[in-house]
Amino acid sequence: MKEPKRHPLVVGSGIAGLYVALRCREMGLRPTIVTQGRLEESNTRYAQGGIAAAIGPDDAPARHYADTVRAGDGLVNRAAARLLADDAPARIAALVRYGVPFDTAEGHIALGREAAHSRARILHAGGDATGLSIEETLKRRVLEGGIDIEERTSLRALRPGSPDGPVAVVARSPGGHPVTHEPRPIVLATGGAGNLYRQSTNRPFAMGEGIAIAFRAGAIVADMEFVQFHPTAFYREGAPRFLITEAIRGEGARLVNEAGERFMVGTHPDAELAPRDVVARAVDREIARSDRPHVYLDATRIPRDRLFARFPSICRFLLLYGLDPSRDRIPIAPVAHYMIGGIATDLDGRTSIPGLYAAGEVAATGVHGANRLGSNSLLEGLVFGEKVAVQLRNPRAGGPSPPGRTVELPTPTGSGSPEDPATIEVIQSRLWDDVGIVRAPDGLRAALAAFETLDREVEPATSEPPPGAVANAALTATLIARSALERTESRGAHFRTDWPRRRKIWERHVGLRSRKAGRGRR
Ligand code: SIN
Repeated sequence: MKEPKRHPLVVGSGIAGLYVALRCREMGLRPTIVTQGRLEESNTRYAQGGIAAAIGPDDAPARHYADTVRAGDGLVNRAAARLLADDAPARIAALVRYGVPFDTAEGHIALGREAAHSRARILHAGGDATGLSIEETLKRRVLEGGIDIEERTSLRALRPGSPDGPVAVVARSPGGHPVTHEPRPIVLATGGAGNLYRQSTNRPFAMGEGIAIAFRAGAIVADMEFVQFHPTAFYREGAPRFLITEAIRGEGARLVNEAGERFMVGTHPDAELAPRDVVARAVDREIARSDRPHVYLDATRIPRDRLFARFPSICRFLLLYGLDPSRDRIPIAPVAHYMIGGIATDLDGRTSIPGLYAAGEVAATGVHGANRLGSNSLLEGLVFGEKVAVQLRNPRAGGPSPPGRTVELPTPTGSGSPEDPATIEVIQSRLWDDVGIVRAPDGLRAALAAFETLDREVEPATSEPPPGAVANAALTATLIARSALERTESRGAHFRTDWPRRRKIWERHVGLRSRKAGRGRR
């Protein structure tokens, strides 16, 4: 059956995908959501800390904007940050309208503190179950709205279409035959790539597939060197790397070493509430200095009632491992958490391919610069999701400005060797070891060569069948390593041992595009 041309295909069902679909429906469009697993499966579901918005009496969007710019270490797209901060209260109002049960105190929405925010402006729900509350609420609204949903279906390729948009090739998973849609607007809301790293807070499917697919189709990707590491994930051999939210430090928890010393004091004036990249590197350094694979988060000075009421999921998790955080120190270590880079978009979510939009973690608007401020990620899904929905209702031509430096890479073609899922572990280990929190030039070069080789082996030699998950992982890893080599400085989440400081010449974004697209300049 032919699809009406303006009715978008929304790929992904985290906060950005669900919100875009809901808003499109409200504006009279008939979106279809395609999602890899069940509708409610996404990284959004596991977001703990919350969502940032300047709604407190002592706060203002201008402060939120200034904090976002400061944390982004000289690389924030200021127009994007302005939009994010200014629009945040309206997006929160939309969530309240949909029924998200934000926690309250004395009749007002309760606000927590997180690192590098100058005010308490983090809204939360269910204590530390903010993502779960948002995801479940939006899911309910999507189902009530009768929005078409194709679960267990994944995007496999984007092909040239028409001015309405590209052609999407999708397949039921696992092993379903590829199905080709009519050209139509496509919104990529496929999330991040954290699970390309051996240690990560992300769900298994977060391997940057949307980025690889868009890159192959000719889209510019940007800022791929900026992978954000979260400083505090639970550490125990064999246990999941469960996130211990930054908000717990906002309530007074401290980072200490084996001897009980606070190593963040003296490292940064804001100590435990320093920007996330600074804290992640400090934890990494402290671990390297010690004979253990972790340091500790000490939350014992927070009153027990308060700790258990505010962070019920974390406390429940820790109790399962025999730890009572009101008495015991929590062993933690950094892990990959959030992909700052992604598919380059303008502020309306338009990519460099007409009719292809991106929103949420998969997009690179430049709003986070080189280091994302905590709790700005759920927010970006809403703010830029809203802009995408408005565009879909009333499309206008446009797209992202070219990044300050755009590098063309050879079109990925390969020998089409059968994919071995074990290759994913090779990629995860290599990224973790050589393109991690601290990056050395030899490691970067070796990692890039390894990823390019893997990619050449598994990329199909012809357009059918579309590349599989391993080829997409190898390509996204290649893009991360390539960008990390390109940026010869240290800034935000990207730290290089051979260039340990910021350099003025790098106050610009790195873009990558496939040479076949042919329109880019070096
Ligand atoms: C956290 O709760 O610490 C993570 C929140 C975020 O990454 O924005």
